[in-house]
Amino acid sequence: MVITAKQEALVVSSWNEMKDDAPTFALKFFLRLFEIIPSAAKRFSFLRDSNLPLDKNPKLKAHAMGVFVMTCEAATQLRKTGKVNVGANTSVQHLASVHFKAGVADVHFEVLKFALLETIKEAVPYMWSEELKEAWSESYDHLVVAIKNEM
Ligand code: HEM
Repeated sequence: MVITAKQEALVVSSWNEMKDDAPTFALKFFLRLFEIIPSAAKRFSFLRDSNLPLDKNPKLKAHAMGVFVMTCEAATQLRKTGKVNVGANTSVQHLASVHFKAGVADVHFEVLKFALLETIKEAVPYMWSEELKEAWSESYDHLVVAIKNEM
């Protein structure tokens, strides 16, 4: 089993605590990525073509929210089937192709993971533990490996 029932429960229960403000948290971890690697913002066509401040860009928020939700959902998929299923409206192959064409690199995925975990720690400090960190890490890693294997 790639993810245990306990790990899934940790991801889902912390998600339930964060979900009302999830778009704000999601945006926060992407802004953190751009603080660490400013050039990462240039990978997004809608950021290159926009004069809006990063934190006001609805498309950035939507992408960030997609990453957050897909990471959370991966925990349940991994526990149930041992595999990541990115959803009915897309495929791992499509995501791999989009990220490859946009020039998204390993370092972007790695720093985003760091930013995601840091944001969760700040969002639910009363739930934070090594086990919670491991549970979100496993979900994220499997999701990213599935995408990167097709890239
Ligand atoms: C596009 C998910 C990480 C940059 C997308 C799309 C999804 C997605 C669903 C829309 C695909 C479509 O057009 O149909 C994810 C997931 C990630 C992840 C699940 C990690 C688990 C990243 C990272 C970057 C990134 C680390 C780094 C910069 C992009 C870019 C696009 C994109 C540039 C194309 C946006 C555009 O210009 O239209 N991603 N993403 N993604 N993602 Fe990600």
